[in-house]
Amino acid sequence: MQNGRVKTYKVSAFGECYETLRQTTTWRVCTTQRGVVSLRVQFYDPTMRTFSIAFLALALLNACVSETESTAENEVVNVYSHRHYDVDRQIFEKFTEETGITVNVVKAGADELIVRLTNEGEKSPADVLITVDAGRLVLAKKKGLFRTSDSEVLRENIPASLRDPDGTWFSQTVRARILAYAPERVDPQELSGYADLADEKWKGRILSRSTANIYNQSLLASIIAHEGEAAAEAWARGVAENLARPPKGNDTDQIIAVASGQGDVAIVNSYYIGKLFASEDRGKAAAAREVSVFFPDAAGRGTHINVSGAGVLKHAPNPENALRLLEFMSSPDIQKLYAEANAEFPVHPNIEPSEILKAWGEWKRDTLSLERIGKYNAKAVEIFDRAGWK
Ligand SMILES: [Fe+2]
Repeated sequence: MQNGRVKTYKVSAFGECYETLRQTTTWRVCTTQRGVVSLRVQFYDPTMRTFSIAFLALALLNACVSETESTAENEVVNVYSHRHYDVDRQIFEKFTEETGITVNVVKAGADELIVRLTNEGEKSPADVLITVDAGRLVLAKKKGLFRTSDSEVLRENIPASLRDPDGTWFSQTVRARILAYAPERVDPQELSGYADLADEKWKGRILSRSTANIYNQSLLASIIAHEGEAAAEAWARGVAENLARPPKGNDTDQIIAVASGQGDVAIVNSYYIGKLFASEDRGKAAAAREVSVFFPDAAGRGTHINVSGAGVLKHAPNPENALRLLEFMSSPDIQKLYAEANAEFPVHPNIEPSEILKAWGEWKRDTLSLERIGKYNAKAVEIFDRAGWK
């Protein structure tokens, strides 16, 4: 729930609560059909993970609100998230509507969140860590930040290849690292795999964001895993020399740069194109229509994929709520929402991608384990540095 926002939910068959969160203070008024039951202020100290509660008024007019029901209305789940999409807010609000559990979100980069969780240790208020990359999920697991979650629902909703075999983290969505090219300047016959982007025919024509970004690091990690370090370094060096401009901006900026003729081929995550198509900004939507999409390595090992995923944290104060949120995110309705509102590929086997993504046709995924992508992350960062791809 966002600061200042009013939420309404049922506490029992007999009444409703109206709740307003301001900074770390929650004001809650509960009423029954017969009048006000309670007015309460709850103070939350996130550093100490403590709540203090003050009852400003208590007028029990209806003895039907049971002890258990009162407890249920206090429930929260605290999320540390690297995701930067509007759809997440909608999903958390739906979760609160359905369960009565308030979702508190702290947003930051995954590296920052992992350091924070490590420093907070047992005192951490966080229940769930959400990242946008398998590499960071693997790192968080390696640092012992997650607990094992045993859930039939998660096993049913998420294919085994998209979750940790030890049950610590679970993918929510899949994204492909694809090529957005200018059809009037590039014949798709010229495109093949990632390796080809290092060929000198692309000199001054390739666009990419910085290699400080995890998406590029994971792509290079996959190349290390498939072809070895020497080949990966030669590739990174070749692409760096072919860049149309020094890396800047995010993936959306690279697509717009292709549309405006600053380069011919951009390396981007699939959902950025899908989201641009749906953009209310006419210029951006037009940029999406001016580029074409190519899935690299279709004839070989398949296109590199990455995932956004989550795990329940080892010191989670609300582990049951955390698991409930993970299950909710994997459910068919929410998977559909990720697909429709954020152009991500669902992990749920029965849910189809959005119409725009479906129009790109069938494509082949690289089946390299996400664990191995995480394993080679540090090496990828080293290689990018040596290769001069900033
Ligand atoms: Fe992104």
